[in-house]
Amino acid sequence: MTYPQNRVFSGVQPTGNLHLGNYLGAITRFVDLQQDFECIYCVVDLHAITTWQDPEVLAANTREVTAAFIASGIDPEKHIIFNQSRVTAHAELAWIFNCVARMGWLNRMTQFKEKAGKHRENASVGLFSYPNLMAADILVYRATHVPVGEDQKQHLELTRDIAQKFNSDYAGSIQKNGFEEGYFPLPEPLIQGAATRIMSLRDGSAKMSKSDPSDYSRINLTDDADTIALKVRKARTDPEPLPSEMDGLEGRGEAENLVRIFAALADRQLDDVLAEYGGGQFSGFKQALADLAVTKLGPINDEMKRLCADPGHIDKILSNGAARATEIAAPIMTDVKSIMGLLHD
Ligand code: TYM
Repeated sequence: MTYPQNRVFSGVQPTGNLHLGNYLGAITRFVDLQQDFECIYCVVDLHAITTWQDPEVLAANTREVTAAFIASGIDPEKHIIFNQSRVTAHAELAWIFNCVARMGWLNRMTQFKEKAGKHRENASVGLFSYPNLMAADILVYRATHVPVGEDQKQHLELTRDIAQKFNSDYAGSIQKNGFEEGYFPLPEPLIQGAATRIMSLRDGSAKMSKSDPSDYSRINLTDDADTIALKVRKARTDPEPLPSEMDGLEGRGEAENLVRIFAALADRQLDDVLAEYGGGQFSGFKQALADLAVTKLGPINDEMKRLCADPGHIDKILSNGAARATEIAAPIMTDVKSIMGLLHD
């Protein structure tokens, strides 16, 4: 038996402030992949609780991410959208992967170091083993492709290491159970396009992030047109005009970031954008970028508001998605248990 060749899985945390980086680096890619893949998109609430979340806010944020998926163009009928905690197989496989992954592997994770900072001893155990749950998210569906932004690359390498170690630790039993190629696929990260790492609007060397204390550092998907235009106008730049070619952006992080945002929003090549705006002042380019951002994000913002006004409808979508996700995950968990010698019905 072989694994499905074309299954996409990805997730977004419901931790508030969904921003342009999440949209361009991940959600627009999710939308595009619907054409050629069977897609499973998850609101990863179990990942969110690795740091404390207010229960009411967590529930509202879970619905908001769901609304953002749908408003951006993900079809919850053709594909699957659900929240992670509804499908218990994620947590179950994560425990198994806690026993497969090595301490040394997790100790190397830069995101844990960044998030735990100086308070490592005080970080939750969940924050440390977070990447094992991510591996479980993907492999519990034997997904083959994972669209993410650049910041998730290391976690996906770990996912591949876990899949490989499981396949080799249990190679004999995998064969006995009738699987020839190794049970888990080694999922391929899809980190593509102009916007795999969108930077802060205030600092071209820092990633645009949900947790940046300055709201001017990011464009949120919930921002209205005036706020978007204001944030673009206030975005930090340098005194030089825009260059006509990519080489001229070397060492100019803020300028490069705005050009990348423009290219991604307009679905144009970077060279093409510079050919049009190179040589001109930033003010003209910023105005064009603000107009473009408002045109692209305005309708998504409106649709998110409309969807969030009916939480019951969103909950039905999540519940239906979870039932369909469980149907895929349950037999995979049964296989895993058989392979490992865990008795089951
Ligand atoms: P999260 O919720 O931090 O971010 C969701 C997605 O947005 C991408 N992203 C960015 N892309 C470009 N520029 C940025 N500034 C930027 N900021 C965020 C992220 O790379 C991500 O694709 N651990 C994941 C969620 C997760 C997951 C998974 C992803 C849990 N399980 C399984 C893939 C597969 C996270 O915290 O994403």
